[in-house]
This record gives sequence, C-alpha cells and structure tokens, in this order.
Amino acid sequence: MAGKYKVPRGTYDILPSESYKWQFVTNVFKEVAREFNYKEIVTPIFENNELFERSVGEDSDIVEKEMYKFEDKKGRIFALRPEGTAPVVRSFIENGLMLKPNSSKLYYFGPMFRYDRPQKGRYRQFYQYGIENIGSNDPYIDAEVISFAYMFLSKLGLKNFELQINSIGCKNCTQDYDNALKEYFTPYLNDLCSDCRKRLMKNPKRVLDCKVNTCKVNADNAPSMLDYLDENCKTHFNKVQEYLKQINIPFKVNPKIVRGLDYYSQTAFEFIDTNLGAQNTLIGGGRYDGLAEQLGGKNMPGIGFAGGFERLLLSMEEEKLSFGKQQTPKVYLITLGNEAGATGIKLIMELRMNGISTAFDPDKTSMNAQMKTANKTGAEFALILGEDELKKGKIILKNMANGEQKEINITDIINSLKDK
Ligand code: HAM
Repeated sequence: MAGKYKVPRGTYDILPSESYKWQFVTNVFKEVAREFNYKEIVTPIFENNELFERSVGEDSDIVEKEMYKFEDKKGRIFALRPEGTAPVVRSFIENGLMLKPNSSKLYYFGPMFRYDRPQKGRYRQFYQYGIENIGSNDPYIDAEVISFAYMFLSKLGLKNFELQINSIGCKNCTQDYDNALKEYFTPYLNDLCSDCRKRLMKNPKRVLDCKVNTCKVNADNAPSMLDYLDENCKTHFNKVQEYLKQINIPFKVNPKIVRGLDYYSQTAFEFIDTNLGAQNTLIGGGRYDGLAEQLGGKNMPGIGFAGGFERLLLSMEEEKLSFGKQQTPKVYLITLGNEAGATGIKLIMELRMNGISTAFDPDKTSMNAQMKTANKTGAEFALILGEDELKKGKIILKNMANGEQKEINITDIINSLKDK
C-alpha cells in the first residue's frame, strides 16, 4: 500500500525493526566514550554557511557540490551541516571550552547532509558518530584518538577492517609536494577526469584519492607525501606509529590517504572495511591544527574522527554480528470482562511505575485473541485477570516460554515480577 508521499531521495526511515540496532551501536559508542573520558556535545543541524566554506574548504567537493544551503527570512545564508568538526570547533571557541575542565574531549552523534549521488552506504541525510580532541598536538593524542575508533569497532565484534594512516604534512611541507604532483600529473592531464584537471591546479593532493579509474591508474606511481615531510612532521608521524605499535593497534601506512576536507594537516587516517564495496570507509579522521585559528579562535591544535552509522550497520550485518536483544515487553496483560478491565488498567500503571514494561491491547476481548497478541509481542509473561480471579483477589501469572502458570495474590504481583 503506497501512500501519496515518499521520503526524499537519499533519505530513509529508521523503522522499529531497525532502531534497536542503532540504539545498540550508540550505547557501545557511549560506553567507549566513558572509558576514554569523552563528553557529549550537541550542536545545531544548521550553521552559518560561511563556517563550512572557511573550514571544509571552498574547493572541496562538499562545499562545491554537496551543501544544502538555504536563505532564511532575513536573507542570511545557512547550510545544513555536512559534517561535525567545524561546528564543534566553532562551539569550542564560542563557549570558551578551552578554559573549562573536562571540556576538550568531545563526542557527538547526529544527522549530516550532503547532496551526493545516493547508493549503498551513501545517503543525502546520513548519521555520524564522531569525536574531537582539542588542545594538544602531542602524537600520543593521535594514537589515543585512533585507539578510540579501534576499540569501538572491536567492541562491536568487527574483524574485517583495516586501519590505514598517513601524514599529509603541514603548510611548510605541502608546497613542494604540490609542485611535485603537478609536475608528475601534467603529462597525464588528458587522462584525468574533469574534476581532477581542476584539482591539479588548486589542490593536487586530491587527485590521489579520486575514485575514477583512469585517475587511479595514473596516480599509481605518483610521488609520496612521506618523502616531502619536514623534520617536525616526520618526527610526529614516526611517534604516532611508535605509540600505535606500543598499544598493539595494527595499521598500514597508505601515502594515498589525503581526505577530502581542507582543514587537515599531519596525521590522516581511515578505517576501511575490507569486505564492503565502493563505500568502504567506515571511519575517517585526522589532525586539524590550523582550524581553530582559521575560525577566529586561538591557535589550538585538534584531532578527531567520524564514521557513518549506515556503513557500520552494513558491516556488522555482513559479519553477522549481534545487535543485542530487540525490545519486548516483560508482561502482557489479559483481562476478561468489564470489571477485570477496570482493575487491569490501574494495574498496568502500577507495573509501569515499578519499571516493569507492560503491553495491553484494549481492542482485543476474547482470551484467544489476547493470548495470540501476547505471543506476537514476545512478552515473557502473561498476566490473566478474569472475573473469577478478581473475586478472589488473585491473578494468573503465565510463563510464556514454558507455559507454566500459577495463581498469585494481586497485591504480590509487583514483587514477584521484580524478582524475575
Ligand atoms: P568524512 O570522511 O567526510 O569526514 O566523513 C566521515 C565518515 O562519514 C565517512 O568515512 C563515512 O563513514 C561517513 N559518510 C560520509 N559521507 C557519507 C554519506 N553521504 N553517506 C553515508 N555515510 C557518509 C568528516 O566528516 C570529518 N568531519 C571527520 C573528522 C572528525 N575529522 C576530524 N574530526
């Protein structure tokens, strides 16, 4: 049965049969955040458009092609957030969080918006989980942020993923590298896609992570950023690797990771699902030491990551992992007759008040129909209250798994269910 309207292309509903999976994954993430002493931050889903142009970058695909921009009634230009880092850093500066205790390790969840071509694992409204660690450029912090992501994926039970890391250097080293790339790619100019021809002029590193086949092939023997790092960036990158080894986190150095957002410097990393097809980046992150200053704050280094829930769930399904138990009621109340019905609805309130989840369906009257529904809900127990029981002040408690039933005093019901 199709109604008149459909969800917009690239968006979807999270239905009750799926939402428990989201809750499960969110809870594991929150648990890891607690272990790492990160606190939640929530920012609006729309921000001043300029915030993203300045940070993610005017020449990035996100700003150039994918932003949902709109004008409000006063002519201000806003954008639905395409990512979470710029808003978090904006909030960090605006609220002076650098001066507040326990406020520089932050995590967030929420919908992000990018006008991209939808496909499996890629949506126009998608949901990210992410963390930002602002204030330190110690390479240990890089390893810690990476270990957060690693621990999260591991705690979910995922196995088919690979951590790839790179250093994209700093302003100091990037100029020579960009020139080397321009020189390298110029003979292949006609073989590059139209986007990459532009990228070569403005931001040649982006050619390295183009997904178009001819660009990929031509990038095979391109010079490596790692040969152009200055001493400081080289030492930093080596230390990050040492720390990762010390804490037993397996990784591969992949000099082709450049990340598509302009604010990155030095460490860049991705967790790749080795089974998923085209959209196989589970998590992407990196250092953004110049971002706070660019947004008008003090010079404050930072590093973080974000991952898409959709891809994570796909990977978990692929690996046949558990999402915990779907929510089912503990009790289904069956009442027979008007008087029992009246007592029943009071009892329901009492059960729920005492933390016992209870289902009841006033539309069903016969014993048979109510018992069938009780079965469908997956309730652990049925409570059956008929006129006979009511007269005796009793109620029947039936264990739905083994069919055992016994009569107990109505007044004892809360206590006997609490123990179960
Ligand atoms: P990003 O690489 O643009 O980085 O996105 C991070 C992750 O979000 C991707 O690896 C992917 O899992 C998911 N994702 C991105 N676009 C889509 C889409 N259209 N549909 C579904 N999932 C998607 C960032 O957003 C940075 N803010 C990460 C970061 C945080 N860097 C430092 N701190």
